[in-house]
Amino acid sequence: MKEISFNLNFELRQVRVEPSETILDVLRDKLGVKSPKCGCERGDCGACTVLLDGKAVRSCLILAIEIDQHDIVTVEGISRDKLSALQEAFIQYNSFQCGFCAPGIILAITELLEKNPHPNLMEIKEAMAGHLCRCTGYTPIFDAIMALTGEDK
Ligand code: FES
Ligand code: FES
Repeated sequence: MKEISFNLNFELRQVRVEPSETILDVLRDKLGVKSPKCGCERGDCGACTVLLDGKAVRSCLILAIEIDQHDIVTVEGISRDKLSALQEAFIQYNSFQCGFCAPGIILAITELLEKNPHPNLMEIKEAMAGHLCRCTGYTPIFDAIMALTGEDK
């Protein structure tokens, strides 16, 4: 076991981890942060996505010992005070049904909008590559993002 310290949603956390535990294991099983979902555990679905130092990563693929002294943000972190404008847009456009994919997609697009506030549809699709949604057909997700950023499809 090794003790690691990292910022989780802007608060310093310390936790003892096994060398084999992933970020996803630690967030869900040790820290009770349930928004990152366990879909495939091999990097294919995007449901476990978190922001690691501002970059969207698959938390099932990265060992927890690697985030020592780093910053992790989950959906709980971006909506601490109120929902983000992106989350509000998703609600307005009914962009999710079961919601299993939602935290990962919201974080992927949050990262995109930080870098590029007015992405075109192709750039949005690139940011969502590897994020699987079995319910919506993606159209209401794209509609919400394009409406938020003021871009035409
Ligand atoms: S659970 Fe990590 S990518 Fe599917
Ligand atoms: S809303 Fe169900 S998987 Fe996307």
